[in-house]
Amino acid sequence: MTDFFELARGEIDVDSFREENWEGSFKDYLELVRENPAIVRNAHQRLYDMILFHGVEQVPGKDDLVHYKFFDDPFSPDHEDAIYGLDRPLGRMMNILKAAAHGFGPEKRVLLLHGPVGSSKSTIARLMKEGLEDYSRRPEGALYTFSWKVDGELLPSPMNEEPLLLVPEKPRRAILEELNKKLKAIYRLELPFDLCPVSRYYYNRLMREYDGDWAKVMEHVVVRRLVMSEKDRVCLGTFQPKDEKNQDSTELTGDLNYRRIAEIGSDSDPRAFNFDGEFNIANRGMIEFIEVLKLDVAFLYDLLGASQEHKVKPKKFAQTDIDEVIIGHTNEPEYRKLQNNELMEAFRDRTLRIDIPYNTRLRDEIRIYERDFNNRKVQGKHIAPHTVEMAAMWAVLTRLEEPKKANLTLLQKLKLYNGKSLPGFTEDNIKELREESPREGMEGISPRYIQDKISNALVGESPCINPFMVMNELEEGLSHHSLISSEELKKRFRELFTLVREEYDDIVKNEVQRAIAADEEAISRLCGNYIDNVKAYTQKQKVKNPFTGKDEEPDERLMRSIEEKADIPDARKDDFRTEIMNYIGALAVDGNTFDYRTNERLRRALELKLFEDQKDSIKLTSLVSTVVDKDTQEKIEVVKSRLMRDFGYDEVSATDVLNYVASIFARGDTKKEE
Ligand SMILES: Nc1ncnc2c1ncn2[C@@H]1O[C@H](COP(=O)(O)OP(=O)(O)OP(=O)(O)O)[C@@H](O)[C@H]1O
Ligand SMILES: [Mg+2]
Repeated sequence: MTDFFELARGEIDVDSFREENWEGSFKDYLELVRENPAIVRNAHQRLYDMILFHGVEQVPGKDDLVHYKFFDDPFSPDHEDAIYGLDRPLGRMMNILKAAAHGFGPEKRVLLLHGPVGSSKSTIARLMKEGLEDYSRRPEGALYTFSWKVDGELLPSPMNEEPLLLVPEKPRRAILEELNKKLKAIYRLELPFDLCPVSRYYYNRLMREYDGDWAKVMEHVVVRRLVMSEKDRVCLGTFQPKDEKNQDSTELTGDLNYRRIAEIGSDSDPRAFNFDGEFNIANRGMIEFIEVLKLDVAFLYDLLGASQEHKVKPKKFAQTDIDEVIIGHTNEPEYRKLQNNELMEAFRDRTLRIDIPYNTRLRDEIRIYERDFNNRKVQGKHIAPHTVEMAAMWAVLTRLEEPKKANLTLLQKLKLYNGKSLPGFTEDNIKELREESPREGMEGISPRYIQDKISNALVGESPCINPFMVMNELEEGLSHHSLISSEELKKRFRELFTLVREEYDDIVKNEVQRAIAADEEAISRLCGNYIDNVKAYTQKQKVKNPFTGKDEEPDERLMRSIEEKADIPDARKDDFRTEIMNYIGALAVDGNTFDYRTNERLRRALELKLFEDQKDSIKLTSLVSTVVDKDTQEKIEVVKSRLMRDFGYDEVSATDVLNYVASIFARGDTKKEE
């Protein structure tokens, strides 16, 4: 039996607990910093390094593009918050963070993630917060703060300040100079911040008490490791617009503490102020403004004023420095609504906009849905192959612009973007295509809509969902889709289903064809039969009919039907047959037997012949499904099991797809695979 207590205890790592709870004197801290200067990085530098910490890889085939592994979400086993396919926009964001780490200016702006609804803006922000939390726990990302030991109490720095801020400006610069010599980084360490009002208060008071003996003052300082935590509101803040009446600037910059005012007798004493606004608590880390443009306009001015230059102004106090990454996000419709507002002028000037579009590459989009809707996660329901793929394909199609080139269809464009090569199209052409449609990905259907409709389909009665069910859900949902108001657009989106269905037909036809042809035993049998006949033919003998036991003439029709598949003209058939027999004879001399797999031409011919024979039996089942003879039934079972083994179907979906393909063939469609 598992001992739960031991199990729980075993999971708690005592060493890292001690690490995370490190405490020491100011002197101890200076030693730590001397050892590892990176401890005193500012918030932007730390965020930038955190993302790099998880590694970088070159995107294959794209010299100018790297992938930051951090965005694969290393924190959850299912990669719940992984971002797929946005390497370019994320690269742009990283460039901004890099410039901010250098101190070139972006550190004083609001970083605005901007894009259509559901383009993963919130996910990116959430992931970065999680990343910071994790990094702060590691030795590589360790950071520290301090508390004041005064009046018999231990009073933490309310804004989790960097202990080096306790060093006056001139010596601080000298220390940083030393640290920069040792630091291996692209940027320089700088701490151009002042202490917050509370720390200033204690600092000044103690300096007076000790008559300017700074060393004595430092004896009142207890340095400790700082571990970021969104849940505990440590270094990570979130601000969300709510009902205007209930929201004022104190939520951002803190508020008076009336009980303490009564005790202290003054409302301008920093000890009577709670520095617990979102800006305060997010110091050293990151603050996220959800739907930043939904903030009340007057309030937005407040935010911009406050965040400019990275200083905030709490009531009754001077401007206070903040060292944190300010990130906001807004969706495209919201942004457009405010386009002509004069406020936007101010807003644009103080923000750096990073466009976060939808995916326009199918395989990236597929990954979004496969993460949640796969046969491991969805228990008790089978998801037929291509279900997610077809939904994703439709989503991507709604985001693409019709190509201007006359010889290119929308679906072909999608395939080009998806990495397929088409004759006559080079890598440069694809680049041109992207350039002629710069807004691609900023409009269309959102992943969230697709996710919702797939889950709708999943709660239905059927034990298995297939692409048709999902497409039906998607199509039905369109009529009351609140974000697509134009009927014309809805019509266009509906028409795109036709493209997807056609593509699906091609895919499943091909799979069924391959499943039938992959029936090795049947091919082997067919091959044996063919060779027997060829042998008899070349030796001018008869063949024994296995059923009747009677000797018969070689089956010319059978031989020709196979040879035709290998493009052997009637005039060449004798040569071909002789060649094969010679070959088999030569093998036999060495004691080897003939294997059709070694002859590619014959093998393909046999596969095609077999497919043609069996295709008819499949058609038969769909047309007269009640009277299926045993032999046909067996053939069907074989094909079904191939579909299950090779393509991921289950019993139900394999039957469905066979019937479906049979019905396509029944319609007289003889189109072969491309
Ligand atoms: N490129 C992508 N990679 C991975 N998941 C994505 C991607 N784009 C969207 N998603 C998924 O779509 C859903 C919506 O994402 P999220 O909530 O982050 O979007 P948003 O941009 O914040 O939307 P809104 O503008 O409505 O606030 C999430 O489940 C997210 O994982
Ligand atoms: Mg969001």
